[in-house]
Order: sequence, then C-alpha cells, then structure tokens
Amino acid sequence: MLQERVPDLSRSLSDLVAPDRVRREVYTDPAIFELEMRRIHERVWIYCGHESQVPKSGDYYTLQIGRQPMIMVRGADGAVNVLYNRCPHRGNLMVGDRYGNSGEFFRCSYHAWTFHHDGRLRNIPMMESGYAGTPYGKDHPDCSMKRAARVENYRGFVFASLSGEGPSLRDFLGEAIVAFDDMCDRAPQGEVEVVPNCFRVIQKSNWKIFLENQLDALHPSVTHQSTGRAAHEVEKEIERATGKAPLSYHMLSAFATVTIDKWDNFQTLNYPHGHCVLTGYMGLRPKDPDTLAYEKTLADAYGRKRMEEILGVNIHHVLIYPGLSVQSPLQQLRAVRPLGVDRTLTEIWHFRLKGAPEAIYRRSLAYYNLVNSPSTLVNADDLENFWKCHQGLSSEGGDWVSFARHYGRDIHKGEIVETAPNCGTSEAPMRNQMKAWAQYMNGR
Ligand code: FES
Ligand SMILES: [Fe+2]
Repeated sequence: MLQERVPDLSRSLSDLVAPDRVRREVYTDPAIFELEMRRIHERVWIYCGHESQVPKSGDYYTLQIGRQPMIMVRGADGAVNVLYNRCPHRGNLMVGDRYGNSGEFFRCSYHAWTFHHDGRLRNIPMMESGYAGTPYGKDHPDCSMKRAARVENYRGFVFASLSGEGPSLRDFLGEAIVAFDDMCDRAPQGEVEVVPNCFRVIQKSNWKIFLENQLDALHPSVTHQSTGRAAHEVEKEIERATGKAPLSYHMLSAFATVTIDKWDNFQTLNYPHGHCVLTGYMGLRPKDPDTLAYEKTLADAYGRKRMEEILGVNIHHVLIYPGLSVQSPLQQLRAVRPLGVDRTLTEIWHFRLKGAPEAIYRRSLAYYNLVNSPSTLVNADDLENFWKCHQGLSSEGGDWVSFARHYGRDIHKGEIVETAPNCGTSEAPMRNQMKAWAQYMNGR
C-alpha cells in the first residue's frame, strides 16, 4: 500500500511546503496524489451538485469524489442521497450513465439485486432459497449500497464528506458560505435553479494548478491580454456605430481595459481550510433597462434597502478549497475533480436566478460562454498555461514553485488573512491553499 511505498512521506511533508514556496513534487509525484485523495478529497466536504439536477424521485447524477465513483440520487421521500456507485454483491457499478432516472429503485444490471434510493437492499432474486441459513439478507449491512458518511445541503447545494469526522458543512465553509448566499440572495425568490448539464473540460495538469489560478490577479491582463484587446476593439466599433455595446463585450474587454497596474487595487480575503475570496472588479450594475427591471423585481421582493445590500456584495470569485470555484454575481461555478496527478476534470455549471427576468439569465449565459466555456479563448489561454506549468514542473529545471509575491505584507485579523491595500496581486491565496494542504496532509 501507499504507506509502505513511501514510508517517510509524512515526515518529509514539512520539507515540501514552506510559507512562500512549494516543492515541484507536490504537483507531479503520483504517491503524493494518492495521499492527497485519501487525506483531502475523500475526507473533506466536496460539492456533489445542485438539488435541482435531480428534481424527481429516482433522478440521479454520477460524480467522482477523490477516487470514488458516487451517485447523487433523489429518493421518494424527497431527500437527496449520496451513495457509492457500487453494487454490494459483486462490485458492479450500479449505474453506468452520467445521469438518468432509475425508476422506483436501483436494479443492478448483473444479477438484479435491487436497492432503495437511500441504498438499502430492497430484494435479491430468490432471496429466501438462495440465502436461507446465511447471515445475508435485508438486515445485513454488507448487502446494502454504501452511503457517503455525511451529506448536507446548503440552499440547494449538496455536499458530501466520505469521512464521518470533521467539521459540519457550515463550519467547514465558514465565511466562504457567502458564495451561496450571494448567489441565492440575488434571486427574487431566494433560490437558484441549475441549467441542466454542464461543460466538462479535462486539463492535462495537476488539480492544484487550476485552483491557484482562480484568484491569481496578476495573470488576467497578461494571459488574456490578446483576447481582451480584440474584444475591446470590436466593442469600440459597436459603440461608435450604435452608441452602446452590449455588456457581454465588456466581460471580455475588461481583460485588456483593467490593465496590469490596476489589479493591485483589488483584494483577496483568505480564510481557514484554504478558502479565499477575490473582490469584484467588473461593473455589473449598469443602468440599462434590463438591469433596472431586475432591480425592481428585487426591490419588490426584499425592499430597496435589502436590495442595495444584496447588489452591493463585492465579490468576483469565491474559492472553496479543494474543489470548487464559485462566481456568485454571475451565477456560475466550476467543480474540480482530480482524475490523476496530471489530469483534472472541471465541471462548469451555471444557474438561473428564480424570479429574475430572462435578460439576467442571458447575462449569466453570456459570461458562461464567453469566459468559462471550453469554446472561449479565455479558457484556452488558461489551459495552455496549466499544461505548460505541469510540463515545466515535471522537468529538472528547478525544484520550487514561488508564492512570494507580497509575502510578509498580509494583514492578519484573527483567522482571516487580508491582502494589504495595493497588494491585490498578492500570492496570499496560493499560500493560504498550501497552508491548508499541509494541514490536511499532516492529518490535521
Ligand atoms: S453484481 Fe450487482 S447484483 Fe450481482
Ligand atoms: Fe485566466
């Protein structure tokens, strides 16, 4: 087993991570990846999906938690369960499709054992004659599908932990819970609904490279400069011709118009467990008729004062370590599912604000397609960096990854680490993620 292969790994972990830099093996060593899956992803709260992905009894979605194939399924009682996608008889995957409806119960395709949606054994063909006199049958736990140790749902967002121990979901999320409050509060009905299905991208790079990029405020005006400049040129042409370009152009042109020197004006907030927030940089409250109509529906639902509070939340990204990046003002998220030391799946989902005008959904869709989807140049820009980083880290051209930008200038407020004024491009979020990584990997 892993422990036998790398008996000294626990002791050497402290040699891999310093406060301002990390050894390259953290990204490239398959043994470290295995340990990460066991000590981080298969232990902490991992996002499974939104409950609106499984609206009806029997609806299911499959997903990966660490190395484990899982099923999120809606039961007849309305509860959303998370089960291992494995038949307790001889190990067959219970469902082979990514999603579907299992009817009134799960039926294994191999020997037709059947199971309730909470995993309990329902029946075995000829159970009486086949198992009389054995300990096996409905009451034997080994005959039921295994459930995730813990499942919790916050405002429709379903998380599971494969460990029975550890903080509650709320305690785990801490301040980062704002990701879901901000997204749902922006809906006049206080809820969001998933837009069925998502983009899936497999990145040929380690999972941590993606997460570190999410709050990397130095890279956008470099990596995405050409994309932003092209969009800005078109935006200006449209403005010249019509007086006003659609907001969707701004979503791309901001990569060029927010020049590199301006990125230090933003701020990151770094929380326990590796979670981090990047404050907002994109004006999303123009005075166009669509936005004003939306503001009226919010004011009708909550009153003007509360509406101003809701729309005043200043967030661009919330990173929930180790598996979720949420852009709450634009109603989208990316779930990160490590597949191997050099392969990472991201699921890119977006949501509708219940009760909001269609135009506000179109805004979310525009950002989804233009910035986060695999078809946009922005995504391609990032993917190329991720792959190149992984290639470079696999070489012997250097041992360390540096997170030293603005190191030593952070402001510590209890458990929260804020970047100081004019330090928005700080690598504090990466330092915070690696601090959590080291704690988890050391079993804390
Ligand atoms: S493996 Fe599932 S019923 Fe036999
Ligand atoms: Fe990027």
